Amino acid sequence: MKDEFRIHITPESCYADIDETPDSGDQRSRSKHYIKASGRHEINQVNEANYYIGMKVPYHEHKTAYETFLVENGAIEVLSRSRKAVARKGDIIHIQAYVPHSIQPLEDDSTIRAYHQGHSLLEDQLDNRRFREAYPELAKSPDIRQQLAPREQASFWFDYEVPQFKDVPVKEFPEIRTFDESLAEFSFDKLTLKLKVGRWETGGVKEIWQLHMKAGCSLSWVPTNIFNLLYDVYDGSVEVRPDGMEPFIANTRDMIHVPRFLGGSMTALKDTVIFDVGCQGYMMQYLDEVNSIVASAPEKLRDDECLRRLMKKYDFYVRYQM
Ligand SMILES: [Fe+2]
Repeated sequence: MKDEFRIHITPESCYADIDETPDSGDQRSRSKHYIKASGRHEINQVNEANYYIGMKVPYHEHKTAYETFLVENGAIEVLSRSRKAVARKGDIIHIQAYVPHSIQPLEDDSTIRAYHQGHSLLEDQLDNRRFREAYPELAKSPDIRQQLAPREQASFWFDYEVPQFKDVPVKEFPEIRTFDESLAEFSFDKLTLKLKVGRWETGGVKEIWQLHMKAGCSLSWVPTNIFNLLYDVYDGSVEVRPDGMEPFIANTRDMIHVPRFLGGSMTALKDTVIFDVGCQGYMMQYLDEVNSIVASAPEKLRDDECLRRLMKKYDFYVRYQM
């Protein structure tokens, strides 16, 4: 089946590769698409953009979209609200709806993985390409973006030359979360979880976590899981065992996209860092309560029924093998 749900996604396995700046000569900018948007919140859509110095995403904002970027390589300058700061490898950039933003690479071959919510980037890129090809002269008009995307549409592109962006330290720039930074942190024997983007920053739709799994650490999800799960292996490797399927090994930069209603597990083969970029279950609240149980009645965590109730309460379907 052509459009079969792909669970193991490698950097080579994109389904579309778009040249974002075809008229710009040497200023190359490619966008490889890996996963299409799904569900009513249009989440788990992933593309990877490869930028070269000279390229700049014009200043714009989105009405419905939330964009999260993971810097994979190089340095990305993020500009917003008259300030700018630089994100580097391992940092997350999170842009909420109505936050005006622009990004530009400070080094050649700067690469970001982008996880979108609430819009289809591929559709926008294909619309733009079709328009450029059909009307090459009109496409060069300076105000064309406003004509194609007026204020009330999903994205708004500012037409004035960018305001004066003032350099600020990255810690004063809330859109950038450095690799070590977290909004909440929970540690267990072989597993540390760092909250990178809270549900309150995604319109209530999802959370984004950074998982530090020590070698041998194992996570499993149950067949009654109602969400598609999306893990991006940042560094390391895990063995993944989906129920009833051949196991596979996901290495650095591979993604694991688990469909709902399919149980399985993943086990770290060495110390591994994974970004959980599509966490729809209420993991933070779940871990808050787990922490409270650890402090008050730790024996409850050995009671399977208690754990099952807790997971149901928070729509959370992933278990850590203690
Ligand atoms: Fe954007």
